[in-house]
Amino acid sequence: MIIKLLLFISIILNLLLILLFNKKKIKRFLNKSKIKEIDVINIHKSFELRNISSNLKSPKEDSIIKSFSISSDNNIVGMTSDYEAWIISTLSKVSKNIFEFGTCSGKTTYLMALNSSEDTKITTITLNPNEINNIQKFDKDNESSYRNIKNESIYDKFLFSGTPEEKKIKVIFINSVDFKNTEFKKKMDFIFIDGGHTYSVVKNDSEKSFEMLKPNGIILWHDYVPGKRSSSDVVKYINSILDKKKIYKIKNTSLCFYKNC
Ligand SMILES: C[S@@+](CC[C@H](N)C(=O)[O-])C[C@H]1O[C@@H](n2cnc3c(N)ncnc32)[C@H](O)[C@@H]1O
Repeated sequence: MIIKLLLFISIILNLLLILLFNKKKIKRFLNKSKIKEIDVINIHKSFELRNISSNLKSPKEDSIIKSFSISSDNNIVGMTSDYEAWIISTLSKVSKNIFEFGTCSGKTTYLMALNSSEDTKITTITLNPNEINNIQKFDKDNESSYRNIKNESIYDKFLFSGTPEEKKIKVIFINSVDFKNTEFKKKMDFIFIDGGHTYSVVKNDSEKSFEMLKPNGIILWHDYVPGKRSSSDVVKYINSILDKKKIYKIKNTSLCFYKNC
């Protein structure tokens, strides 16, 4: 009897240890997204490759971009990876009307401006650092995403401030929940959703974006990372509309893609 009991306890202890050491993997498995993945080559013809030889493919001129590096002294949080920035910059080259939810340091806005044509208009909305204490947290909203909104809303000057590209950019300091999209409806070629990552804000920004897209316009969402706490509301919202909207995750990125076909 005692041996059986000891055996039982040792099995339970082993199970607990397995759970403890594989917490992240298990969480990721349980959160496994239903979303389909797509290679960047399939989202736009600008990403198609040129065959150099049997084992080498080169990007075409369409996806050669202007870029810059950001000094680590800035301590900017929540930035896109180089690969994500390249995708956004390449799409900006073929977009005349661009909208961004969430400016932060203006890194992505600046890349959009550097890579788009002279007559491109870029509108980016962001929270005024003086008003972050008025941001509401709703019941469904993830606590760490709510905290991040406050930590990221610290800029009123941007990486593009004082550059020649600034003339293409209009910054609107407004809570996107109060933003009226009437004048932007069906006007946008490309929208980047990277504002507040709480459920209520992602839902608000996405619903407004769907109305703002031109036919064949594209939306990219940033930070679709199943299992990551601060991204959980982005994942939850996007997963909740997958049966209504054809949204894909772009391989090797945290970007999701939708085209208004
Ligand atoms: C992750 S950062 C954006 C990063 C930026 N897109 C980039 O790629 O460099 C999030 C930004 O969203 C803004 N934001 C958060 N909640 C918002 C809201 N409800 N309305 C407008 N902007 C919001 C924050 O002020 C912050 O500037």
